[in-house]
Amino acid sequence: MNQMNLDISAVLFDEHKIQARLREIGSQISSDYAGKVPVLIGILKGGFIFMADLVRAIDIYVEMDFMAVSSYGTGTTSTGAGKIRKDIDINVEGRDVIIVEDIVDSGLSLQYIKDYVWKHKPASVRVCVLLDKPTAHKLEIEFEYVGFEVGNEFVVGYGLDYGELYRNLPYIGILKEEMYS
Ligand code: PRP
Repeated sequence: MNQMNLDISAVLFDEHKIQARLREIGSQISSDYAGKVPVLIGILKGGFIFMADLVRAIDIYVEMDFMAVSSYGTGTTSTGAGKIRKDIDINVEGRDVIIVEDIVDSGLSLQYIKDYVWKHKPASVRVCVLLDKPTAHKLEIEFEYVGFEVGNEFVVGYGLDYGELYRNLPYIGILKEEMYS
């Protein structure tokens, strides 16, 4: 019995649905970047499972790196990006970069990361997000590949946490309000 399941009010995207969508995005990226070797930058921690599954759905050569950015938000709200906690190691000058992020909430983290990556003079930057929460955006932000849209509920699992827990749930679900209120 998975104790964590009791804390979830609804499963939004199960393993099969996530993997099916990743296969679509993976083949789209493989065809968009045919003949190139893009650098995928996974955003830690939330993006680690998405990144791991996404790269296995891509069948062209890719390089991988990771970045960690601390946000000021705690608990269920995000108030935007703070500072770089783990920098990229690959020199992305002249390279085609794909930022791989688990969720766009306010959009502040992603904007910060995009601006930061552009400072390294890449040839191009695109963004692949698993979840988009359009009603929470605080700025206009563009991303090219999106897994699913979600409403304003608090989602956990498949990399996404609440208080560092639930990242290991194999699905994406809505956390019961009583768990954080
Ligand atoms: C989460 C998530 C995104 C960001 C989205 O990261 O992984 O990076 O917040 O929020 P925003 O669009 O409002 O900026 P978090 O700072 O919780 O760190 P984590 O990935 O380590 O859980």
